[in-house]
Amino acid sequence: MAELVPVEEFDLIIFGGTGDLAMRKLLPALYHRDRDGQITATSRIIAASRGDVSRDDYLARVEEALRANLNEGEFEDEQWQAFRERIHYVQADASDHDKWGDLCEMLKDAGDRNRVAYLATAPSLFGPFATGLRHNGLVTANSRIVLEKPLGRDLASAEEINNAVGHCFAENQIFRIDHYLGKETVQNLLALRFANSLFEPLWRRGAVDHVQITVAEDLGVGNRIEFYDRIGALRDMVQNHMLQLVCLVAMEAPSSLHHDAVRDEKMKVLRALRPITEDNVRTHTVRGQYTAGAIGGQTVEGFDDELGGKESTTETFVALKVDIDNWRWSNVPFYLRTGKRLKDKHSEIVVQFQEVPHSIFPEQRFDVVPNRLTIRLQPDEGVKLSVMAKEPGPGGFELKPVSLDLSFEETFGVRYPDAYERLLMEVLRGNPALFMRRDEVESAWQWIDNIIASWQEANQKVESYVAGSWGPTASSLLLDRDGRSWQPD
Ligand code: BG6
Repeated sequence: MAELVPVEEFDLIIFGGTGDLAMRKLLPALYHRDRDGQITATSRIIAASRGDVSRDDYLARVEEALRANLNEGEFEDEQWQAFRERIHYVQADASDHDKWGDLCEMLKDAGDRNRVAYLATAPSLFGPFATGLRHNGLVTANSRIVLEKPLGRDLASAEEINNAVGHCFAENQIFRIDHYLGKETVQNLLALRFANSLFEPLWRRGAVDHVQITVAEDLGVGNRIEFYDRIGALRDMVQNHMLQLVCLVAMEAPSSLHHDAVRDEKMKVLRALRPITEDNVRTHTVRGQYTAGAIGGQTVEGFDDELGGKESTTETFVALKVDIDNWRWSNVPFYLRTGKRLKDKHSEIVVQFQEVPHSIFPEQRFDVVPNRLTIRLQPDEGVKLSVMAKEPGPGGFELKPVSLDLSFEETFGVRYPDAYERLLMEVLRGNPALFMRRDEVESAWQWIDNIIASWQEANQKVESYVAGSWGPTASSLLLDRDGRSWQPD
């Protein structure tokens, strides 16, 4: 396991400290980092929210959340006793900056230790909280602010947030989270591409036929349904996570791992995305919405039923054909699909190589199947390379597709940390490489806004799919038209 270096003493203020994200993700992640000795005893985690809650009551809620969200055997009483000492609670309202006395009092003697404000709140509060911090003199040279997604719902609202926060913090102090960038396998993509010389000559047009990226979920939208009904799958998953994956697969090698070197290369990919317009939106996009069905033997309701019978036109599934207009990827489409209530939860990137130019094995039981590199992001993180091999035996010459399959968990034999564990430590270290720069977020929104406008102009309807399937038939047709199919089919 990689060496764990403790982070310098810090104050981490979590606005939205009683919310779902804090309880389900942030505090369990911090507990793990504390358990591994990365958090110094004098560091403080200061939860802030509107409610008048005593510290003891807050700690009781945190304990309950940890017990519910940690894996079996991970909650240990002794460890909890140490961790709870670092946790504090203050009341702070985004709309009343003059009543942040408790927080100011707590921070007044903190000197120049690292100070991080994590906004685990609705995006409409990002500006007000940033302003509140500045108004109360709480922004120091060692301050950082973390913004959770969604960063707005279109380019205009994202710019508004960026301007408001940018008024109080310098760009290098702003950390915009996309938790996919904290996933181990997503980072492994960098290792695979840039720590091996094997793939680079093949990682381009001429060798790659196309790329597929699937982020499938079997779950529905749960208690976020009203919020989700206002945004849909394109904004929820493609604007951020999926476009970041496209960038990491498609970008040129950065000159170093310096944050701006990596982000400059990602930006070039975003700029090269061919706009989807009214003219090609029907051939390049599919919108879907699930109806009632069954997943893993359980019957589930349709999206409209979950909304109490409302006839929603929001997409819970989207598939796209994406063209990247540059030398490396010209005429090599990237097909993306993501959706709720699909057959199972899995995310993977498939790099499909071209067919052999001429087969010398004409009379085989199997066709010569083109090579395929599959990068599994979740579950069972790993990499699989499919190759053709000769079936053993003295008679004939039979070919068979087989896999060189690497499971990271089996190979490294360690617990895979949650993305938030790494991201929180990176913020505390002040390393923004795994966070989105303002221009990346805005460029991604611009591309997404075009699609949404084109859907409206072309009056593109959502197509239904049965919960537990792989999405609407039109999603298969999107590839079928090009003589391709989703993997696994
Ligand atoms: C979030 C989306 O950003 O990512 C959710 O808002 C989605 O709708 C989630 O369920 C998926 O994350 P993961 O890590 O479970 O793949």
